[in-house]
Amino acid sequence: MSLRAATSLGSLFGTSAKPLSSLAPSVSRVSASADAPATMAVSAKGASFIRPHLRTLAPYTPIEPFEILSARLGRLPEDIVKLDANENPYGPPPEVLEALGSMQFPNIYPDPESRRLRAALAEDTGLGAEHILVGCGADELIDLIMRCTLDPGDKILDCPPTFTMYAFDAAVNGASVIKVPRLPGFGLDVPAIIEAVRRDEPKIVFLTSPNNPDGCLVSDEELKAVLELPVLVVLDEAYVEFAREPSRFDWVTKYENLIVLRTFSKRAGLAGLRVGYGAFPLGLIEYLWRAKQPYNVSVAAEVAACAALTNPTYLENVKNALVEERERMFAKLQEIPFLEPHPSHANFILCSVTGSKSAKELKAALAKEGVMVRHYEKAELRNYIRISVGKPEQTDAVIAALNKL
Ligand SMILES: Cc1ncc(COP(=O)(O)O)c(C=O)c1O
Repeated sequence: MSLRAATSLGSLFGTSAKPLSSLAPSVSRVSASADAPATMAVSAKGASFIRPHLRTLAPYTPIEPFEILSARLGRLPEDIVKLDANENPYGPPPEVLEALGSMQFPNIYPDPESRRLRAALAEDTGLGAEHILVGCGADELIDLIMRCTLDPGDKILDCPPTFTMYAFDAAVNGASVIKVPRLPGFGLDVPAIIEAVRRDEPKIVFLTSPNNPDGCLVSDEELKAVLELPVLVVLDEAYVEFAREPSRFDWVTKYENLIVLRTFSKRAGLAGLRVGYGAFPLGLIEYLWRAKQPYNVSVAAEVAACAALTNPTYLENVKNALVEERERMFAKLQEIPFLEPHPSHANFILCSVTGSKSAKELKAALAKEGVMVRHYEKAELRNYIRISVGKPEQTDAVIAALNKL
């Protein structure tokens, strides 16, 4: 129970709410009073309860929430140019807020099969609803796929730099990661992938098109070459709407070893409501149905996603605005002497930082101006920043801040 829920229940029943930490001692008092040897209580505690592979897990570093960021920077949220998490600045179509305001049954558990949303997605994508599973963001589906396929000690393969959730979820699931670095220019090294699959026998290969953080696409030929291997291929299309290439969502009817993931976070401005969806071959999907949390998509999330799909014109216009803005921002970034922007098919642009300031210093200097971008300082991507595409006035603000440095 959350602290807030505990507080409101407390006031409901006339008791004072206790923080969870104050509950802990009474729990251990109960076990201490049981007929157990006194040594039992002290021999097993803390980290000893945690699975060994998780004791050394590095926590995922999430982006700071808007309110926290606003307090830290001493700026109102509306005065922050937030271009660090590839969110959609236009938000969802107006139908979404209307539908959320008139939600009928928030007191009832959601449909475990998300039938209304899957039917709407079937119409949206042209793929039968029986192939579609919905999740609490594409993030949940990545974890669910791993939970269903990986035994501790198994391997996955990814191609860094790429979305770091693949490696994070692999670690949580006790798997290791075979990394096949991208070529200069961020294209896939398909011969190296083929060799690594033969040599290391990973269970899953994660491909991302467009890739985060560089915005490169995976071509049909590259995808087909990897699909021929004896491995499950997860194609993450979180940003596919911003590319001029079509989605491969319906390829799952042809390839038994392909899963395609998409999300409402970017295309529909619903990152905060957490709705992702995936296309699965029929031979696989039934096991994911068995293993998923029954109520993984909330009533609000399903209502919001269904409402977003009722206004395809809005979604199309927002996408077109962002694609147009990407091209305008790219041209402006090319004029900044200490940045080398990389052409992108997504709603962000990766830039190599070439001046005297490091990427980290640049990010900090921009934050002081109220402009948030993401920086990279890892072996696989050293001295880069990634700037999400926003509204025209946000591009103007980031360019003005860069010109001031
Ligand atoms: C490549 C990629 N896949 C998946 C996600 C997560 O999507 P969701 O918000 O649906 O969990 C992201 C989020 O940034 C991403 O960059």
